[in-house]
Amino acid sequence: MSILKIARMGHPVLWAKATPVADPAAPEIQRLIADMIETMADAQGVGLAAPQIHVSLRIFVFRVPESRTGADPATAPTPVSVLINPEVTPLGEEMQRSWEGCLSLPGLRAEISRHARLRYRGLTERGESVECEAAGFHAVVIQHENDHLDGILYPMRITDFTRFGFTENLAALGVQL
Ligand code: NI
Repeated sequence: MSILKIARMGHPVLWAKATPVADPAAPEIQRLIADMIETMADAQGVGLAAPQIHVSLRIFVFRVPESRTGADPATAPTPVSVLINPEVTPLGEEMQRSWEGCLSLPGLRAEISRHARLRYRGLTERGESVECEAAGFHAVVIQHENDHLDGILYPMRITDFTRFGFTENLAALGVQL
């Protein structure tokens, strides 16, 4: 396994619409997924999409840490998970605002509005179908990573630019990150 270089905002791979994976079992896909998991752990991230490591394929890895969960089962902690060719469907009209960061924009955070609840489906690293309902932080990370597969970075979703800045300044303002 290898730790891969993470593309930063401005690199064209981050603006491209990624291609579906034809064969999740292919050895190069299996190696890619193992490297993505290792790279995310090394960067202490909660999500990483393949375009962020310069591969324009529809794959992301994510986790929901214990600290970002609630009583709702749709917000339960999730170990490191892989989603291939995901499809995300919002449930209901409710939106939630939360602070997001991204490994492609180190040191920055912005407050972003996302769907509060959604259903997603896709394939696991073993090629098995998975379907799940997510809310809270789990729903945020799914929408953030899925955006990467469509060439969207979170600054493109900012509505209030006074809620965008460097982490150290936001912490000084008492913003919970
Ligand atoms: Ni990101």
